[in-house]
Amino acid sequence: MDKLKVMTIFGTRPEAIKMAPLVKELEGREDIESLCCVTAQHRQMLDSVLDIFKLKPQFDLDIMEAGQTLSTITSKCLLGLEKVFHEVRPDLVLVHGDTSTTFAGALAAFYQQIAVGHVEAGLRTWDRYSPFPEEMNRSMVGRLAELHFCPTAANRRNLEAEGISKGLFVTGNTVIDALQTTVTENFTFAEDVLNTLDYGNKKVILVTCHRRENYGQPMEDIMAALADTARAHPDAELVYPVHLSPVVQECAHRHLDGIENVRLIAPLDVEEMHNLMARCYLVMTDSGGLQEEAPAMGKPVLVLRKETERPEAVRAGTVKLAGVEYNTIVSMADQLLNDPAAYAKMAHAVNPYGDGRACRRIADGILYHFGRCAQPPEPFRS
Ligand code: UD1
Ligand code: UDP
Repeated sequence: MDKLKVMTIFGTRPEAIKMAPLVKELEGREDIESLCCVTAQHRQMLDSVLDIFKLKPQFDLDIMEAGQTLSTITSKCLLGLEKVFHEVRPDLVLVHGDTSTTFAGALAAFYQQIAVGHVEAGLRTWDRYSPFPEEMNRSMVGRLAELHFCPTAANRRNLEAEGISKGLFVTGNTVIDALQTTVTENFTFAEDVLNTLDYGNKKVILVTCHRRENYGQPMEDIMAALADTARAHPDAELVYPVHLSPVVQECAHRHLDGIENVRLIAPLDVEEMHNLMARCYLVMTDSGGLQEEAPAMGKPVLVLRKETERPEAVRAGTVKLAGVEYNTIVSMADQLLNDPAAYAKMAHAVNPYGDGRACRRIADGILYHFGRCAQPPEPFRS
């Protein structure tokens, strides 16, 4: 029997981190020919992940522009992928999550009547503008896909509520698979400032912030709250690897430059990031991925957003929604920095998002769907 041609398509940092272990898993399967296409919606932040995981994509659309718009990303991906599909016709295209690359990848495959599998399927806030444009991207991919690899049982129920009843698998999130290869005990950071931090005596607050729906006033309030939190807590060190988006760079530097216990640094490669997270005291972020990784390491998270599509860790008590308003962010951070009991209540490791075997389940699910094995994978149970 011919091998199944499975093409993974991704373009941004988080997709690459979460697809890398899956590409490795697919490469190891005898029945599968694994092909990889990157859109390079992100350039530097993508290449850093490709280097760490030693991935060499067969196709690279190289689409990134400074200050790109949603329309330019989507149209460049569609046109580029059409050419790729004329060169090679996969049996299945895999896309990940909710970026513009994800949506355009699924749509381009659908236009060629190629089956689509959606990894990290079924996350919802039910608010079309938050996160923007991610909520609508993932909903539309849900309509286009034939296979849906849901991290959690709740994600599966979200899809069922939308009338999607076939091709559903509960697998865990592949980011937990990735975490198992990156965190080590005696890690030395390439970013030297991270080697000099006093993790034992200082409360290291790891910050990231980049979401489009936070551009403007919400991001102004978030940055002002971070600045005043740092000023009010000399026993804390705020470490913020700033996303390369010019909007974020400008806002972060305007509010946070020159504060003694704030370190604005370049984006970290994923090994550095995971090892910093493993050593920090607290995470403040609007990132999706960090909300999944930090609970697995027992680190409390304050989410700098109005809502989250990842309620599992909120229910488990390690993540709290801090919102985007100055007063709330400052007071929630104060509480975790001043009140050991409040901190201890949140600082316990939970794994609602995976057990490190998501990639294996996804590969098994693909083989089952195409009639290459008799049994579907056992679902992930948290
Ligand atoms: C994108 C995704 C978002 C995801 C985020 C992860 C969309 C619409 N948004 O948002 O869902 O959470 O990635 O980080 O798909 N830039 C560089 N070098 C890089 C990467 C970005 O210079 O390696 C700059 C460029 O000027 C680029 C800008 O950042 O135009 C914004 O990148 P873009 O992918 O459009 O948006 P993100 O905010 O990164
Ligand atoms: N990350 C990283 N370096 C950084 C910031 C984030 O490697 O400087 C990793 C992080 O650990 C997580 C992923 O990138 O795995 C999250 O990406 P991001 O926050 O950009 O996107 P989101 O998850 O919000 O879509």
